[in-house]
Amino acid sequence: MKTTAFIATISLAATVFAGQYSRTQNIVGAGFFNAFEFQAIPDPTHGRVNYVDMPTAQALNLAYAAGNTFFLHADATTVIPDGSPQGRNSFRLMSRASYANHVAIFDIQHMPQGCGTWPAVWETGDTPWPACGEVDILEGVNGQGTNTISLHTNPGCTMPAIRTQTGTSLQLDCDAEADGNAGCGVLAPFATSFGPTFNGYSGGWYAIERTDAFINIWFWSRVNGGVPADVYAGGGTVNTSTWGTPTASFPSTSCNIPQFFSRHNIIINLTLCGDWAGAPSVLAAAGCPPNCNSFVDANPGAFRDAYFAFNAINVYE
Ligand SMILES: *[C@@H]1O[C@H](CO)[C@@H](O)[C@H](O)[C@H]1NC(C)=O
Ligand SMILES: *[C@@H]1O[C@H](CO)[C@@H](O)[C@H](O)[C@H]1NC(C)=O
Repeated sequence: MKTTAFIATISLAATVFAGQYSRTQNIVGAGFFNAFEFQAIPDPTHGRVNYVDMPTAQALNLAYAAGNTFFLHADATTVIPDGSPQGRNSFRLMSRASYANHVAIFDIQHMPQGCGTWPAVWETGDTPWPACGEVDILEGVNGQGTNTISLHTNPGCTMPAIRTQTGTSLQLDCDAEADGNAGCGVLAPFATSFGPTFNGYSGGWYAIERTDAFINIWFWSRVNGGVPADVYAGGGTVNTSTWGTPTASFPSTSCNIPQFFSRHNIIINLTLCGDWAGAPSVLAAAGCPPNCNSFVDANPGAFRDAYFAFNAINVYE
């Protein structure tokens, strides 16, 4: 009798608190310098870029806070000499904290745009890739089109064709070895989700919810309305059960989430050119100059809009 009552209480609690999270990090303004490390490492995707460390980013005014807003810029003033081994100064930030099941909300006012840019807000782990898994929340190239949300994993993680999401599935196999490392991408349904159109409406909110049962990603533009009150408020608690249909949904039906995804750090980076943004066909489709590296070297002024402005990142667990 006692045991039955106890079990009933547990399952009631689980039902009531599904989707309910409390804030563990409120990252705004200069707080980004504490929450993230700047990684001065080579870019594995062969970008024409030089990721700088934190003191350099601060000295060159590439990273700074203005009130609660935090800015991250690529260099937009220096002509890079022909044949220089280093590309244009830019940034790669990794969160000091790592997360398993969590919600993270990215309130972004502006994202990098323009020919040659390849910005990303994403999550991955520190065990060998792709065994740790990768979640691309916001990623794209040359300021083009709409956002693609994607997972990259070891072989054995696939997605059902029919899912409850507003985006359009591109590939269903998350295996990084399949489809030229496209992952199991989902195209966001709004042009406001990326690049100049995103920036034209002062950006919006991206959110991830990761549980053992699914990884869901939402996007709400600042112009379209419909942002949930708790996301807008950025307060101490959120209830994802009230957020409606996600933009991209990755259920665990045929992908054991805890098996394919280790604890993750948040990564924010901007590379220039490289394997995707600098590919000749991709440049041509975007109407960008064909020699991406020379364009980056010679045209600092083309990178004035190659910056992120974050209003906040809030993490809930
Ligand atoms: C920077 O971002 C791009 C896009 O996500 C990624 O492919 C590349 O590997 C990143 N560079 C580093 C050093 O993480
Ligand atoms: C979260 O939202 C759902 C759906 O509206 C609701 O049923 C549930 O009671 C909410 N949870 C809490 C703790 O407020």
